[in-house]
Amino acid sequence: MRLRNEGEHDHEYVTDSSRGDLTFMQETTDIQIGELSPNSVLKVENITMQFGGVVAVNNLNMEVNRGEIVALIGPNGAGKTTAFNVITGVYEPTNGAIYYNKKLIVENKPRGKMKKYYSGQNAGLYYKSISKTPDKITALGMARTFQNIRLFKSMTVFENVLTAMHVRRTSNFFTAMLHLNFSEEKKMREETASLLELVGLSDVKDDLATSLPYGKQRKLEIARALATHPKLLLLDEPAAGMNPQETEELTQFIRYIREKFDLTVLLIEHHMNLVMDISDRIYVIDFGRLIAEGNPEDIQKNPKVIEAYLGGSDNG
Ligand SMILES: Nc1ncnc2c1ncn2[C@@H]1O[C@H](COP(=O)(O)OP(=O)(O)OP(=O)(O)O)[C@@H](O)[C@H]1O
Ligand SMILES: [Mg+2]
Repeated sequence: MRLRNEGEHDHEYVTDSSRGDLTFMQETTDIQIGELSPNSVLKVENITMQFGGVVAVNNLNMEVNRGEIVALIGPNGAGKTTAFNVITGVYEPTNGAIYYNKKLIVENKPRGKMKKYYSGQNAGLYYKSISKTPDKITALGMARTFQNIRLFKSMTVFENVLTAMHVRRTSNFFTAMLHLNFSEEKKMREETASLLELVGLSDVKDDLATSLPYGKQRKLEIARALATHPKLLLLDEPAAGMNPQETEELTQFIRYIREKFDLTVLLIEHHMNLVMDISDRIYVIDFGRLIAEGNPEDIQKNPKVIEAYLGGSDNG
């Protein structure tokens, strides 16, 4: 555990109506950082992601414990996907730290150009610069799906999952195809077949991924993520574009895979029925900042949350 140095100030950005137009404000709350709960799988600590003058994620703190299903919600442009991109190593944050299974995987302080731009909360609190690349993070047991479906368009359903299995190896798909011995390849094919069976896609295994209806493409994305043997699964709007019945099925499906694969799940979602039904806990962000955390019942009653959603967003 580390404590803020005596006399150090917190700084807070305040945004006016146009996002990214920043003025500067000081406050002096004392905070302690670096404490992890006993079952911590993911801890996001004071994460800020600033693109030039745009503060997409602003001093975010979140923790996800083993076996939980946790939702990250907020209006459009709140910074949810950016938070996922920082957690999965796509972006190096401007400031803050991330622990995965109680191990520090990201720690960053403002550097280079950001040193000049960033004078926000907790500047100067971090010392090292560590950031793992997305492939390393996947190898540690974290997998994700994307807001915009990213499947290999010219591959079949089966090939899409098989490729993801190869990601677990150090070699890429093609070199792996050349060098793997027959039994290893056979094992992966068997595992692909049983994974497709399990998620209910075996009947379309030889179809082109893009020929599937939307709901099944989303399921295939999840199957691809599962092929990397994750312990923590991050889903970015898995129900986007789904009708109420598909959304209900997806809710059951997420519960099912959580049990089956002993997963912890962090999901971004705008479908409030799904969020309120499935989540153990919910984090709400607005303009990059955490505005609420709690169980579904409390979140639905929270005036700050209601205001964030009613004040200038069409989500609901
Ligand atoms: N690479 C980038 N460069 C500059 N600005 C960015 C970048 N990525 C995201 N942003 C900005 O950060 C803010 C947060 O975007 P983000 O995509 O994280 O929101 P979101 O909460 O996922 O929204 P949605 O619900 O619409 O998916 C937006 O203002 C966006 O324009
Ligand atoms: Mg998003």
